Amino acid sequence: MEKMTVRDVDLKGKRVIMRVDFNVPVKDGVVQDDTRIRAALPTIKYVLDQGAKVILLSHLGRPKGQLLPEFSLEPVAKRLSELLGKEVKFVPAVVGDEVKKAVEELKEGEVLLLENTRFHPGETKNDPELAKFWASLADIHVNDAFGTAHRAHASNVGIAQFIPSVAGFLMEKEIKFLSKVTYNPEKPYVVVLGGAKVSDKIGVITNLMEKADRILIGGAMMFTFLKALGKQIGSSKYEEDKLDLAKELLDKAKEKGVEIVLPVDAVIAQKIEPGVEKKVVRIDDGIPEGWMGLDIGPETVELFKQKLSDAKTVVWNGPMGVFEIDDFAEGTKQIALAIASLTEKGATTVVGGGDSAAAVNKFGLEDKFSHVSTGGGASLEFLEGKELPGIVSIADKKKQDVD
Ligand code: 3PG
Repeated sequence: MEKMTVRDVDLKGKRVIMRVDFNVPVKDGVVQDDTRIRAALPTIKYVLDQGAKVILLSHLGRPKGQLLPEFSLEPVAKRLSELLGKEVKFVPAVVGDEVKKAVEELKEGEVLLLENTRFHPGETKNDPELAKFWASLADIHVNDAFGTAHRAHASNVGIAQFIPSVAGFLMEKEIKFLSKVTYNPEKPYVVVLGGAKVSDKIGVITNLMEKADRILIGGAMMFTFLKALGKQIGSSKYEEDKLDLAKELLDKAKEKGVEIVLPVDAVIAQKIEPGVEKKVVRIDDGIPEGWMGLDIGPETVELFKQKLSDAKTVVWNGPMGVFEIDDFAEGTKQIALAIASLTEKGATTVVGGGDSAAAVNKFGLEDKFSHVSTGGGASLEFLEGKELPGIVSIADKKKQDVD
């Protein structure tokens, strides 16, 4: 269902309350990664250019309804102000007279950020009174918080009961690309999965198996599959209780004619630390006890590249190894480069959020894909084929007139 966006409404002179996902890492009062803040800039700028007053809402971390200074959004206001090149007013409150006064004083073309929505216990409970208060501050709600779309909270879902809610550009782009890879991929379609646990990806594997031609599996989750196939995986991390499930998934793929491609070699070490002794072993030769696989090996990189080479659509979720440590980052980097080169050839390439997006940033490749999702849990649930409450709550196009 197509959603209404900021383009479909008249924003001139309006008070706009915009839910963004500024859940970014902050250390000692400084934002460590501003990707999510930058991703919201096009919508914020557009709404300001239309002559609206902008009130921003976001959560940060999980303060569980308590006012905890380490979860304050004040450092985010500072970073946003630098990125926008204009003052961002900040009110250290979520509800109450202080907030009302700050909104009353707001002029057209000005931006105000409220304190962390999760400082109020009503946010995660989707409390209608809280949603009503926020709705009372504005004429229209803009939802650009894709990263929060899997949560039914007061600031994204509840508020839409009281004032019209339309999508921002980030939300629109996330829906467009994730819909394409979930429902309508051009073939050949290759899914690349990694990360620590099979259990995190069961829903994605099961759902995308319906559409994919090939599923390439790296990361620590590969060892659950390899162990299920009777391979010796040494001291590699795996999920004992998911061995049967791994087997079932492999059988199901076979039934459906989907090729599951597992690594043929791995980079192994005895400790997950930089600078330790490492070796490459073939999976068929077995990983010795005391050693664990921490990255896919060079032969696997070549195999995966070949399996990717004709793809018209690729979705990638989860790193191939412990990319945070340079000694074990090569597999993830090579696969990122291989997928990026397909974008140049006209393929649609989508990177799921979370760790794979962090890897893409680390390698400086963020502009080399059709889309890098800003959602972690939200993009996974989307790929699982679930309806996300924070998308459902946005007004549908044609059906409603939100003007
Ligand atoms: C995220 O980082 O995935 C989103 O901001 C949602 O955060 P949450 O998992 O704490 O709801």
